[in-house]
Amino acid sequence: MKRIVTLVSGRGSNMQAIHAACVQQGWPAEVVAVVSNRPGAGALDYAAQQGIASAVVDHRAHASREAFDAALADVVDGFEPDLVVLAGFMRILGADFVQRFEGRMLNIHPSLLPAFPGLHTHRRALEAGCQAAGATVHFVTPELDHGPIVMQSVVPVRPGDDEHTLAERVLATEHGIYPLAVRWFVEGKLQVVEGRVHQADGASQVWL
Ligand code: GRF
Repeated sequence: MKRIVTLVSGRGSNMQAIHAACVQQGWPAEVVAVVSNRPGAGALDYAAQQGIASAVVDHRAHASREAFDAALADVVDGFEPDLVVLAGFMRILGADFVQRFEGRMLNIHPSLLPAFPGLHTHRRALEAGCQAAGATVHFVTPELDHGPIVMQSVVPVRPGDDEHTLAERVLATEHGIYPLAVRWFVEGKLQVVEGRVHQADGASQVWL
């Protein structure tokens, strides 16, 4: 059984989608922990309801980013993860942390990377006049919202959209692509060759 540790900062709807798919579809894996940098994160309530171990590493309790990263890495390592899943985790992780888990850490970002890394992606996509938006699951590398792309979803931008309606449309697809990408990882179906991700069965890596 592969051990999945999720890092969250908020409601954790992606983490919940991954956990539910893992249980319902009988993956050779288990979500063993939910780790939050925010004590009040809704994701922690879900973990408690589901009997998943949880931990809080509050970034405000650490004097520097390096100290926070080191404390977080120790807590995550304590759960002996095969895979670390960033699911709405809103802290930038330093190179040391990323390198410790490189090749076994995934993130989801609510844009069609490499467009719009960072914050306010939906607002920026609307301001740019994009006709399509989407989300990207990628391996985490030290550069923010970069790294080999596992899967992307694409949705239309509709007349009258604001950042909330667009975010909602994209989020619905995140709950499809993130569980699929994690499943592929735990089933050993992902290969990274020269920075590009191949799915061993040739499954489509775009969700339209
Ligand atoms: C998602 O849109 C994710 O792509 C972004 O933050 C949001 C987290 O939502 N990184 P949730 O906590 O998974 O509900």
